[in-house]
Amino acid sequence: MSDHRAAAGVDLHLDLDPALTRRGGLERALREAIRAGRLTPGARLPATRRLAVELGLARNTVAAAYDQLVAEGYLTARRGAGTRVAPLPRPTAPTAPTRPDTPTPRHDLTPGSPDVTTFPTAAWLRATRRALLTAPADAHGYGDPRGRTELRTALADYLGRTRGVQAAPERIVVTSGYVQALALLATVLDGPIAMEDPGLPFHRDVVARAGRRVVPLPVDDRGAATPTDVTAAIVTPAHQYPTGVPLHPTRRRALTAWARESGALVVEDDYDGEFRYDRQPLGAVQGTAPDHVAYAGSASKTLGPGVRLGWLVLPPRWVDPVVDAKLHADHHTEVVGQLALADLITTHAYDRHVRACRLRYRRRRDLLVRRLTDLNVTAHGVSAGLHALVEHPDETSVLARAAAHGLALSGLRDHWHDPRDATRHGVVVGYATPAEHAYRAALDALTRALTA
Ligand SMILES: Cc1ncc(COP(=O)(O)O)c(C=O)c1O
Repeated sequence: MSDHRAAAGVDLHLDLDPALTRRGGLERALREAIRAGRLTPGARLPATRRLAVELGLARNTVAAAYDQLVAEGYLTARRGAGTRVAPLPRPTAPTAPTRPDTPTPRHDLTPGSPDVTTFPTAAWLRATRRALLTAPADAHGYGDPRGRTELRTALADYLGRTRGVQAAPERIVVTSGYVQALALLATVLDGPIAMEDPGLPFHRDVVARAGRRVVPLPVDDRGAATPTDVTAAIVTPAHQYPTGVPLHPTRRRALTAWARESGALVVEDDYDGEFRYDRQPLGAVQGTAPDHVAYAGSASKTLGPGVRLGWLVLPPRWVDPVVDAKLHADHHTEVVGQLALADLITTHAYDRHVRACRLRYRRRRDLLVRRLTDLNVTAHGVSAGLHALVEHPDETSVLARAAAHGLALSGLRDHWHDPRDATRHGVVVGYATPAEHAYRAALDALTRALTA
């Protein structure tokens, strides 16, 4: 097929089939572009003279093709308005089957997201503008797989200051969120990997898909148990997901001692470490064993998951393998977002935003706890983070009632490696998820779901 780009009016790629006549080929190419939605209703087609030049056709041929498509109803032609794509009736999208007794959720308390309506748009715009205006030209070329040095330097300072992480910029790899950090580590590690039980099923899938065997690491009221017989353990020490328990100091020491003695790697997922309400944040475990702990952070809870920025601070011996895996995954993470985040951090706009969010989520947490106390229900794991574990012996009924009240909620059951092992039952309440104005109504729905 000959390959042409018609640049007047709309910019359009047309494949003209040489097996057809020139006019027939053009007609078919235009029909297909309209049907596929590449040419949308109202789009103005190039003038016949211009398209003829672009495609190397006679002007009469193009005019005849346009006339034919006008006659078929694909195009409209009006003097002065040019030739345009007609408003064709679109095939209706198949509707998802809905259960008559289950309304689509009006309220959202699923965990995993901050209130994305609070994304700091103005600050991000300023940061992006400054970043673009000051970025050297090489920022738009292929760069260091570890990420921009501006961001790695800013993160080294920020993580040291706020989380006690021992971070040097050379040991940081910027990733597309924690999920990529996890996938990269799972690629370079070998042998079985321990993951908390209960934990996030999605992350177990990521590790398993990289070909690693996932071994359950039991969690109790002191956090994750000390691993044995694995090459790595992935833990959430600041605020275990989903139970919310912080890793007990004796367990923290046992964890790093195990890593030192066995040569295994601890992966510290510090996904919501910025959000601690009742006392000073617990420093990262990495700060006490930087040669044995890979620290992982993310902008998903502080800014929003859509930013897709995360970072790894690696022990020296893991830097090269992870950098190589990153290079082969995607060269490096998108640059403008990295530069914007670096600017946000160095101007302390990031700190201000996190502080404002912390206040807001603390107020939400307090309201949730008050509402649950009125129901004689305990919210677990609420001294930090953006979610609470609410136990209930009849999880299935709570979820069914929540659905009936239009409330999206996450059950605890699937968090176990084997749901038959579940020793606790209930729901995980993501109290940061709704917009501020929608929060009270979401809590009303939760109250109804918890009340038989
Ligand atoms: C336990 C846990 N870790 C990490 C993350 C952050 O993941 P990402 O950076 O890929 O958005 C989340 C987000 O929900 C999470 O629940």
